[in-house]
Amino acid sequence: MIVILDFGSQYTQLIARRIRELNVYCEIQTYNFALEKLKDMKPEGIILSGGPSSTVSDMAITIDPAIFEFGVPVLGICYGFQLMVSLLGGEVQNSDHSEYGKTNIEILSQDPFFDHIPDLKNHTVWMSHGDRVQSLPKDFKILAKSENSPFCAIYEPKRKLYGIQFHPEVSHTDQGTQILSNFVFKICEAKSNWNMASFLETKTAEIKQQVGDQKVLCALSGGVDSSVVAVLLHKAIGDNLICIFVDNGLLRKNEAEKVVRVYRENYHINLIHIQAQDLFLDKLKGITNPEEKRKIIGYEFIRLFEKEAKKLEDVPFLAQGTLYPDVIESVSFKGPSAVIKSHHNVGGLPENMKMELVEPLRELFKDEVRELGKTLGMPDEIIHRHPFPGPGLGVRILGDIDLEKIQTLQEADAIVLEEIKKAGWYNKVWQAFAVLLPVKSVGVMGDNRTYEWTVAIRCVNSLDAMTADWTRLPYELLGRISNRIINEVKRVNRVTYDITSKPPGTIEWE
Ligand code: XMP
Repeated sequence: MIVILDFGSQYTQLIARRIRELNVYCEIQTYNFALEKLKDMKPEGIILSGGPSSTVSDMAITIDPAIFEFGVPVLGICYGFQLMVSLLGGEVQNSDHSEYGKTNIEILSQDPFFDHIPDLKNHTVWMSHGDRVQSLPKDFKILAKSENSPFCAIYEPKRKLYGIQFHPEVSHTDQGTQILSNFVFKICEAKSNWNMASFLETKTAEIKQQVGDQKVLCALSGGVDSSVVAVLLHKAIGDNLICIFVDNGLLRKNEAEKVVRVYRENYHINLIHIQAQDLFLDKLKGITNPEEKRKIIGYEFIRLFEKEAKKLEDVPFLAQGTLYPDVIESVSFKGPSAVIKSHHNVGGLPENMKMELVEPLRELFKDEVRELGKTLGMPDEIIHRHPFPGPGLGVRILGDIDLEKIQTLQEADAIVLEEIKKAGWYNKVWQAFAVLLPVKSVGVMGDNRTYEWTVAIRCVNSLDAMTADWTRLPYELLGRISNRIINEVKRVNRVTYDITSKPPGTIEWE
């Protein structure tokens, strides 16, 4: 295992991703993680990440230099590098020699650290720093320099301490993965044994150990995370898994039937199906404020789930699809961000249920969850599904909601998805869906005047939903979708394409 101590760099997760791609398990901890615990984890190597602070400022965040005496190789990246230098007696200065963006470095000594780098004289790396290292601590040697950084890569052979000013984890650094791989395999001598088959094996044993022959409750939505949790748990504990699927009546066309069929018939999972469209429609009647709609849907979901759970006896465990980014987010030292939309995680279940949590995906990134699903033999249709918000079509029908609007949007949305899939775009985009704008405009069909609603098509590219860009779908495809919606969906006479990026727009309209 490699452990990264995080000093707040926006690239920390990326370092972990790159190392896991080398099939080596890698974990992120905050910079102030207890050294004793770190020692107990017996990592093969430690990485000190970059970060926004400056070692020459009074506000510098730091670590106990005892870490360099562990007998474990340490790699400092950017801020981590400067911190290592200043803790060990070298000098870092706030200089006029900042470097941002692509920079060429000259590799002076190959050492195993720069093995397999083809062009030593002119190697392109990605830099992002203001301060620079002016002098080295005792026993350190130079590995590389750039025009503005005389010490751009350094090392101390005895304790295997390495420091680099550039970011090997970003794609703009040529051979960045090779450099990380050299550190992980040649310097730390880690083994390449982290893969989904081995993860599945250990996780199944862990779940069995945690749960024994007791029962586990799981909220199944049909989305990727909860589906993988359910199938994994079912594999581990069979009929001791009980899933509750709350159908709020705001799902896609035929979605509820599909979920029930797949999990009951294909996976033979113990599934309780709560059909609650009437209740949700009743509670949402006349409500137009998006936040209020979200809160009502979230609240009713939890209430129904709790009510059903109470009927079950002796179920001490609750399974949740918490992912690694949620775990890191909750320990990161970034402050809480402004609430743009509440109840983003409707799957987050009540704290007062007093059940012990089973969170088998806690260590995984989203694409690793997909890989795990694949290892579990789940079909692409489930593991490559687009994200779908907890409040469902409730936040895709602007203003108040009724059954007619839901059915209209379901029809339009089904056409959008069918055409996008047929044209081979489904797996290339982050999300594609229809939004119902219940404002009326005038049209003409045949010889008759129409006065009906509008449907907006939303299709975006994104890596993490934090930012997104609208997808440049071919006009022919947009044309086909528009024609079909107008011809086939009653009450709609106009189709528009949403060309707003995020920010300033959000992906969902409410
Ligand atoms: P926004 O609209 O904030 O959405 O740009 C970002 C991503 O989150 C999804 N989303 C939700 N997911 N519960 C969820 O589980 C929610 O309440 C929710 N609201 C938005 C959205 O589909 C997009 O992928």
